[in-house]
Parts: sequence; C-alpha cells; structure tokens
Amino acid sequence: MLPQLSQTVYGKPLVYLDNAATSLRPKTVTQKWVEMSEIKNANIHRAVHAMASMATDEYEGTRQAVADFIGAQSAENVIFTSGTTAAINLLAYSFGELCIREGDEVLIAESEHHSDIVPWQLLCERKKARIKVLPVLDDGRLDIEALPSLITPGKTKIACVAQISNVLGLVNPIDEIVRICHDRGCPVLVDGAQGIVHNTVNVNELACDFYAFSGHKLYAAPGTGVFYVSPDWIHKLPPYMGGGEMIQTVSWERTSFAEPPHRFEAGTQNFAGVPTLKPAMEFAAMMRDRETELEHNAVIRFVNDMLVADRRITLYGRGVPGKDKTGIFSFSVQGAHHEDLALLLDKMGIAVRSGQMCAEPLMGRFGITGMVRASFAPYNTMQEAEYFIESLRKAISMLQ
Ligand SMILES: Cc1ncc(COP(=O)(O)O)c(C=O)c1O
Repeated sequence: MLPQLSQTVYGKPLVYLDNAATSLRPKTVTQKWVEMSEIKNANIHRAVHAMASMATDEYEGTRQAVADFIGAQSAENVIFTSGTTAAINLLAYSFGELCIREGDEVLIAESEHHSDIVPWQLLCERKKARIKVLPVLDDGRLDIEALPSLITPGKTKIACVAQISNVLGLVNPIDEIVRICHDRGCPVLVDGAQGIVHNTVNVNELACDFYAFSGHKLYAAPGTGVFYVSPDWIHKLPPYMGGGEMIQTVSWERTSFAEPPHRFEAGTQNFAGVPTLKPAMEFAAMMRDRETELEHNAVIRFVNDMLVADRRITLYGRGVPGKDKTGIFSFSVQGAHHEDLALLLDKMGIAVRSGQMCAEPLMGRFGITGMVRASFAPYNTMQEAEYFIESLRKAISMLQ
C-alpha cells in the first residue's frame, strides 16, 4: 500500500517517523499522478479538446471533493495553492491590501511555523503595522487566558494560529480561539498543515475565516495545497497574483477578474498533482476508521509514556495522547546534540527530523537551539514504536 516502505536503509527496514515534514504516499495516489501525466495531460480550463475536458473534470471534481472533505459551504470557497505557505502568503498579501493600515496589529501564536510568521512580518513592514504574540505556556499549551487582552478592538485585524503545532503536537482549542476573536471583531486564520492530518475538520463548524493545508502532508502529491476562504470573505479579498485564467476580460485600459475561486488561481495550475488529493483524502478517511484510530492511539500513548518516563529526555508539548496530544513528539536530551541523535537513528533505519523545525521563536521560548522530532502517522505500527524507543535509548547511551 505504501511503496516507500519497501526499501531498506543501511540494511535495515525503513522506519519512517518524519510524517510531519511530509507523509508517505499510497499507491492510489502515485497511480493517479501517473494517470494525469500519461493520459490526461492537458492544461485545464482552456482548450475544448477531449483530453483538456478530462483534465478539467479531474481538477474541478477534486475541488468539490475537498469542499465535502472539510465541510466547506461550497466548492467556491476552496482555492488550490501549492501548499500552506503559498496559501498564507496569498492571504497576507490580499487581506493585507484590503484591511491592514498603519498602526494595525496582527496576532500570531508563539508556536507558529515560519510560514505563518514571515508572510505577516513582510506585510507589517510594508504597512507599518505591528505583530503581537500569543504566548505558549511551559507545557506547550497556548495561553488562552491572555488572548482577550491581546486583541485591541478595531486594531487587531487578524489572529493566526495553527490547529496543531508542527513541533508540540498539541491540538489547540480553535473553537474557543475563534469565539474569543470573533466576539472582538477579529477574523481567524487556522494553519491546518498538521491539523488536517490528525483531525476530522469541518471548517463550517470551526467557524474560522480562513483554513490552509498542504496536500503533501496528507498523502497527496507535493506542490498541492488548499486554502479555504469563508463565505464572508471570498468575494471581498482582492486578487493576489495576476495572469492567465484569473481574469474575465483584459484590455489596456482595464482588467476585470474571474469569479472566485479562479480569481486566486493565476497561471497554469498543478493539474497533475491536484487530482491526487482525491485518493489521498480517501486514504485519510481509511486511516480514521475506528480500528486504525484505536491502534494509533495505543502507539502514541506508548511513545508518549516512554519519553515522559525517561529522565534524560525533555518532551515539549505535554498533553493526553489521543485527546489533545497527537503523534508529533519533539524532545531534547541533555548532553546529546539533536543532530547527532538523528544521525544515529538514521543509521538504525529510523527517519526523524532534527533542528528548529521552522519554528525558531518557539525554540527561543524553550531556551534551546533545536530538538529531535519523531512524528507518527496512523500507518506506523507498535513494532516500529518499540524499535524507535529501543534505538533512541541506545543512541542516547552512546552520546552521553
Ligand atoms: C504547521 C505548519 N505550517 C506550515 C507549514 C508549511 O507547509 P508547506 O511547506 O507545505 O507550505 C508546515 C510544514 O511543515 C507546518 O507544519
């Protein structure tokens, strides 16, 4: 089912625990990718020939499937991008042009990925606006009690928070955050890059204004992404990039724009990649069936308990596995550098991530320069979890 796992690394079966960086891709996804390249290889929305119609149907059919998958009001609210980063840049530019003026504020959680920090910094520099930070508590949870006082009515124009931090693996209380922000007239962007993988998401119920995720973390092709824009905003946001297919008419005097979502999809789109989201979402649904969920919860409970019990290890992001703690485990070990640990684990066939995880401010919050991150997907087995813990213990003993 997952072809990538048929390989060995240094003579050992590959144990892939870097799922938060990118997931493995099932055969149904790679087959769809090949089908789009070998059979339905035509540019979408343009030509009238048969192959172009097939490609367009695949692309637009996927838009509806995504809308259904995330509970969006309609396919109109689903914009395809190249990933979460592209979606947030789109929003920071477009929303920024519409709403941000000198002296305004953008509120960002301290645990955000650089993708949800830097686009806002660029905007704030351009507009002479200011970033405010929603702090992270010692256990990794967001300081929700501080949230109301951080929102300046009329000035804090948007709040940006991940559903699940890519470092801490904790599920943030998005409902509560949205309620507090909306009560104070502040719209909310949810970075769902990790959230969409570990949660069933209904953007309508979450009531967020914007939701972004990357296809490649949800088993689909790289270079695909989804940006959900709520009905309140989809017709208000101005276009971000100009080019082919996002227009209605173009003349030297004036250009008018296509209706959303096409208004936000300038130029040739990833027509081979986007249709892979369909089998990817089917796979994701399979990974959420009751039995797989129970097995996955047992795996992450085991890993969590083992990491917490080992006094040499500091685990960041403390929660209840299967409840508000997902399978993303970031930790440091005193006297053992994160890169060395990751290299030793690699030699044992285990792929983990090490470093700042694109969240440098969060590293600063915990006073460290980097961590090791083992991120488990629902397809990781208990046997792999046990081998990881055993190997980690061995690696730590070698370095300390
Ligand atoms: C929480 C979060 N936000 C944003 C991103 C950026 O995603 P991409 O590089 O696919 O655009 C990531 C990727 O690791 C992430 O984990």
